[in-house]
Amino acid sequence: QSLYVGVDLGGTSIKIGLCNDKGELLRTFEGPTDTDQGTDKIMSNIAAYVNELVPPGTQEWDDVKGVGIGIAGFLDIPNGIIDFSANLPPLRNVPVRQIMEEKLAKPIKINNDANVAALGEVWGGAGKGVQNCVCYTLGTGVGGGLIVNGRLIEGFSGMAGELGHMSIVPDLEAIQCGCGQMGCLETVSSATGIIRMGKDAVERGDRTSLSLIETPLTAKDVIDAAKAGDEVAQRIVSRAAFYLGKSMAAVAVVINPQRFIIGGGVSKAGEYLFEQIRQVFRKYSTDAAQKGVDIVAAELGNNAGVVGAAGLFLYA
Ligand code: BGC
Ligand code: NA
Ligand code: ZN
Repeated sequence: QSLYVGVDLGGTSIKIGLCNDKGELLRTFEGPTDTDQGTDKIMSNIAAYVNELVPPGTQEWDDVKGVGIGIAGFLDIPNGIIDFSANLPPLRNVPVRQIMEEKLAKPIKINNDANVAALGEVWGGAGKGVQNCVCYTLGTGVGGGLIVNGRLIEGFSGMAGELGHMSIVPDLEAIQCGCGQMGCLETVSSATGIIRMGKDAVERGDRTSLSLIETPLTAKDVIDAAKAGDEVAQRIVSRAAFYLGKSMAAVAVVINPQRFIIGGGVSKAGEYLFEQIRQVFRKYSTDAAQKGVDIVAAELGNNAGVVGAAGLFLYA
């Protein structure tokens, strides 16, 4: 039999999944990323967790034909290098394919975390059978994945689909993004952005129920407050939705997708958020580019990353 390992390298945890040749997930293992302990530690964590899930020396390990890794950050995909990751602070110019090939002695493929999630959705989720679709992942950052004519678009240097770094907020309201640029979509529409806007409101002394929350503020706190009628929280969520919808109107005339798929923690806000995004998209997208286009929730949830990463060997 042929087995494939998928790795989801995120800012707080590394998730590993074992898949069979049908792309079915057999089991998973998860451990901390330890971003504060440097690049070598992160790399050896990946290897240790893979070995934990599928111990070397076993028949299963012999059956593993490759290890796919989805990584949050800017990658040189053809060369297997992490150029820069704003949300995984130490990772800069890391030849991750070479390092992991040495540690694991298996073929390695790397790709962007959101690209991989998009592939997962197209193979077995909300994008099944859709040849042209665009995925957004709303988490610590805002990720994107572009599927055009059934294929993932990586672009000239792997930067295609970095939708979170579309500079879209006007200068007067813009703040600096982790990537260094001003006014990126990620600064307003990620969980981090929503939390920041919530904290700012509390610090400014706005009248909001958010000021009563004693635990560290989360994006879910802000969204729940908005749903419960808190006007300050509502403005924050609307702002996140506004720039998402506007960015979709822009993307619509660039690659003309049939479907936008939205995943990641913030998408758990559900229809409350989606309806606002759809309204903005409908308002700003030219008629012909929005005809027949829908905006839906991702279906694979937490496992999209590992399944999509393993699938780099199966379908990509
Ligand atoms: C990174 C992307 C990543 C996204 C979601 C962004 O900050 O630039 O590469 O896909 O976060 O993790
Ligand atoms: Na991407
Ligand atoms: Zn940016």
